[in-house]
Amino acid sequence: MQNADHALLRQLSENSQRYRDPLAAVDWTRLDREACWLPEPALSLYGLAAWDDLAPDVRRRLSQYEFINVMHAGLWLERVFMQRLTRRLSSRLARAEYEYFLHEMREESGHSLMFLRAIEAARLPVPAEAWRPPALADWLARRAPAGGALFWAATVVAEDVPDKFNRHLRGLDGVNPAVRDICTVHCIDEARHIAAARAQLEAALQDLPRALLPLLSPLLRLLVRQYARVFYAPPAQFYELSGLPHGERWRRMALRNPVRQSFVRERLAPTLHLLESYGFRLQ
Ligand SMILES: [Fe+2]
Ligand SMILES: [Fe+2]
Repeated sequence: MQNADHALLRQLSENSQRYRDPLAAVDWTRLDREACWLPEPALSLYGLAAWDDLAPDVRRRLSQYEFINVMHAGLWLERVFMQRLTRRLSSRLARAEYEYFLHEMREESGHSLMFLRAIEAARLPVPAEAWRPPALADWLARRAPAGGALFWAATVVAEDVPDKFNRHLRGLDGVNPAVRDICTVHCIDEARHIAAARAQLEAALQDLPRALLPLLSPLLRLLVRQYARVFYAPPAQFYELSGLPHGERWRRMALRNPVRQSFVRERLAPTLHLLESYGFRLQ
């Protein structure tokens, strides 16, 4: 098995030395029920004719629940990733990898604590079963052999997709200041995590017989599609909790919303491009 670039991992660990607790980096007082959390162009129903008829408090509540959805996706990914990573910690692991993984887990723990707090910040009802991970992505994240090309490609997807959304959000007018804080903390750490995941993927690909690459592409394509669907369209119940009865119908409308579809396409494009540069065929 090829080793990931140890010089890079040492550099990333060095950059992680000055740890800042994400919980202390967010102005939590701004994340209240009376505030909009996400700007309208970042919402799943924006652009539909029906959007214009929605009352301001419904739009505001939806902006809160759509961000809660993103927080749930982050919690799930980090939970599964940390479970896999802790099992790889062993005395046989190269020193550079061991240290880097510890840094990454410290940072992911901080993010997850931040996500938990964001979900609970406004004391909005969030039923325990409302949010479910996408089936294939969940299976792959748990079962793909750790250290293999599929696992690291899935990790690149899991980190890069939300990162591109966070980066876009930070630049939009009208984003809640606490949401911007959360995105900023996450983007700074994710830049290192994505660099490390790419290095691990590159090392894993060197071990992979070229003939196997085309076999992984359909799985990866499905993974991106399922994940983006969950990340960019909250569960039906979140629409209902926002004041929109028949949530399934609203979710279907969001998934068919051409404005939303092009928003999602633009956010996914850099991730797809990155994966295709490794030889995966995703379009
Ligand atoms: Fe994270
Ligand atoms: Fe990460």
